[in-house]
Amino acid sequence: MMDQLLQVKNLKTAFRTDHGMQTVVHGISFHVNKGEIVGIVGESGCGKSVTSLSIMRLLHDTPGEIIDGEVIFKDQNLLPLPEKKMKSYRGKELSMIFQEPMTSLNPVLKIGKQLREPIQLHLKVSKPDAHQHAIKILESVGIPRAKEIMEEYPHQLSGGMRQRIMIAMAVSCKPSLLIADEPTTALDVTIQAQILNLMKDIQQQSNMGILMITHDLGVVAEVCDRVIVMYAGRIVEESTIVELFEKPKHPYTKGLIASVPKIGSGVNRLHSIPGTVPSPTNMPIGCKFAPRCKDVLDMCHIEEPSLIEKDGHSCRCWLYQDQRQGAIINE
Ligand SMILES: Nc1ncnc2c1ncn2[C@@H]1O[C@H](COP(=O)(O)OP(=O)(O)OP(=O)(O)O)[C@@H](O)[C@H]1O
Ligand SMILES: [Mg+2]
Repeated sequence: MMDQLLQVKNLKTAFRTDHGMQTVVHGISFHVNKGEIVGIVGESGCGKSVTSLSIMRLLHDTPGEIIDGEVIFKDQNLLPLPEKKMKSYRGKELSMIFQEPMTSLNPVLKIGKQLREPIQLHLKVSKPDAHQHAIKILESVGIPRAKEIMEEYPHQLSGGMRQRIMIAMAVSCKPSLLIADEPTTALDVTIQAQILNLMKDIQQQSNMGILMITHDLGVVAEVCDRVIVMYAGRIVEESTIVELFEKPKHPYTKGLIASVPKIGSGVNRLHSIPGTVPSPTNMPIGCKFAPRCKDVLDMCHIEEPSLIEKDGHSCRCWLYQDQRQGAIINE
């Protein structure tokens, strides 16, 4: 489709371990349109960061490997591109805010140098012009004393400031797609809200697409247009944000929604989903959520349901599928 910016098709990523290759992202497919904010939500270990690192092709420092699928960005499959070509996309067309700010800020380089270099490289401008551009970007993300901060080192700044610097770096070359991996998790609630508003403002001004990765459904509700719910390396539900909160289908999604604190609900104990995410070495045979599911059916322990779409709302659950038909299809 015309306005599709990113299309991930059947992406499968595995890690080399002592027990052989272990798949942690199991053939996921989704898209992000121009100007759209899509959330990926799910508990720790469900494969959110591995998905984003796979899209950016940044797994080389890990024992991870993409073993199947396509990542189509503006009609170009990124996976077979030579690294040199991929580098010209990274930081310019495709940009990422990492889960841990200190992994992408170099502690021994001044902020100014770290901001200036990608601008010089990608926008092909002189050092003084890049310097001026960097100051403007810092000001646009609400950094006070931007000129002075350019001369400071990351450890001299607070967590909220560092996160703003990360956002400034990520948007400095006007990317078409920004992948933000837990951009606010390490911050306190007021700063979180400021950073989310800032990202929304930048998105509206530039019309970039954002893939917002978070374990926090509150963050998703705040900023996203569409949501993908992941469980154990699979997509289990996908829909618009309004539909997801009004008519959630998957019992896992319902559990996540019930765990979001609601002001004035009068309930002083928060719901939590019993049990834990299965480890990649010990996956149940059928539906991966079955051992924790309160609506579980016999079928769920036998065979994994497929992701079925109906009216733009997808769900991977036997409660919404004809079990006989599913069995026949998968025979
Ligand atoms: N470098 C690595 N080496 C081996 N396994 C890894 C590595 N990085 C991630 N994994 C495994 O891949 C799976 C998915 O991890 P991932 O980091 O994508 O989870 P996540 O959804 O981002 O979780 P969190 O919310 O904690 O950030 C986990 O089972 C994890 O143990
Ligand atoms: Mg992560």
